[in-house]
Amino acid sequence: MSVPPPSSPVRQRVLSGMRPTGALHLGHYHGALKNWVQLQQAYDCFFFVADWHALTTHYQQPDSRHNLERSVYDMVVDWLAAGIDPAQATLFIQSRMPEHAELFTLLAMSTPSSWLERMPSYKEAVQGNRELATYGFLGYPLLQAADILIYKADLVPVGEDQAPHVEVTREVARRFNHLYTPENPILPEPQALLTETSRVAGLDGRKMSKSYGNTIAMRDAPEVVEEKLRTMPTDPQRMRRGDPGDPARCPVWAFHELYSDSDTRDWADRGCRNASIGCLDCKQPLIAAIHKEQAPWRERADELLADPKKVHWIVEVGTERARAVARKTLKDVRHAMGLVY
Ligand code: TRP
Ligand code: SF4
Repeated sequence: MSVPPPSSPVRQRVLSGMRPTGALHLGHYHGALKNWVQLQQAYDCFFFVADWHALTTHYQQPDSRHNLERSVYDMVVDWLAAGIDPAQATLFIQSRMPEHAELFTLLAMSTPSSWLERMPSYKEAVQGNRELATYGFLGYPLLQAADILIYKADLVPVGEDQAPHVEVTREVARRFNHLYTPENPILPEPQALLTETSRVAGLDGRKMSKSYGNTIAMRDAPEVVEEKLRTMPTDPQRMRRGDPGDPARCPVWAFHELYSDSDTRDWADRGCRNASIGCLDCKQPLIAAIHKEQAPWRERADELLADPKKVHWIVEVGTERARAVARKTLKDVRHAMGLVY
């Protein structure tokens, strides 16, 4: 894909959202955020907090009002800490944009419910959990389509699990254009930009995820990172220091693949197999690499946490910038549907 230079007046637009699930971890960083930081230099990027989407699955948590606000701002701080630059990218919060809800309603009129019922994310989740059998959760992909189409996004960076949602967005756009503006289509079909490292392994070798309790948070303190790594399980067949091990059986190895250069990997691989290094030795370069990665995040986050108004202001400015674009699309959509009285 050719990337237009930053000065190009026709920068393509990128849009993506993340559900606020509290402090972000290394899986979020390597699976999505790192990519966003790169994209912001070449594209007109819109990144938003999908707090309505969070409510589709967590609508009845006791303390959720308090948690939600905290999760929203913690997440924005993590974005900024990672290097998202509000001078380049537009950051906003979904629930501050009722325009998305209006487009969602208008698109709902012509979207066959079968398109939503057959989404794998819906069918499987509802079978496992009846509490998800709500109208809101059924509409999850359509709300996502409205999020995307209201900015006429060209590209949508997402993990593989979200690809069907981008696909349905394309179908929704196609149908809308066909029904209302066949001569002069107004909703462009977006393209998914699949993130390469979308699966980052956690401390137990399973996918890093809050629900497994196997995460390292982006803002975990250095001592916490060190402790988590030191106590991380290794090759179960390497019981004693003198036993040879096999990196293929060891969850630590995934961290070497993510963080170590080939010399370090060779050293660890050989040392493991001939038992010339212990597991703590093997983990040492990883602890150092994560500390190094976190240092600039911590510095930026500390500055923001000392000045919470600044974070609110960044979101405020982004929300107004997003609103100007969203209003214009909505106006065209209303017009196309004959809703101008
Ligand atoms: N469903 C996405 C996720 O869970 C979040 C999301 C909501 C999103 N709206 C979006 C992502 C629009 C991309 C574009 O990750
Ligand atoms: Fe795992 Fe490294 Fe120990 Fe081998 S030496 S078992 S790769 S931690």
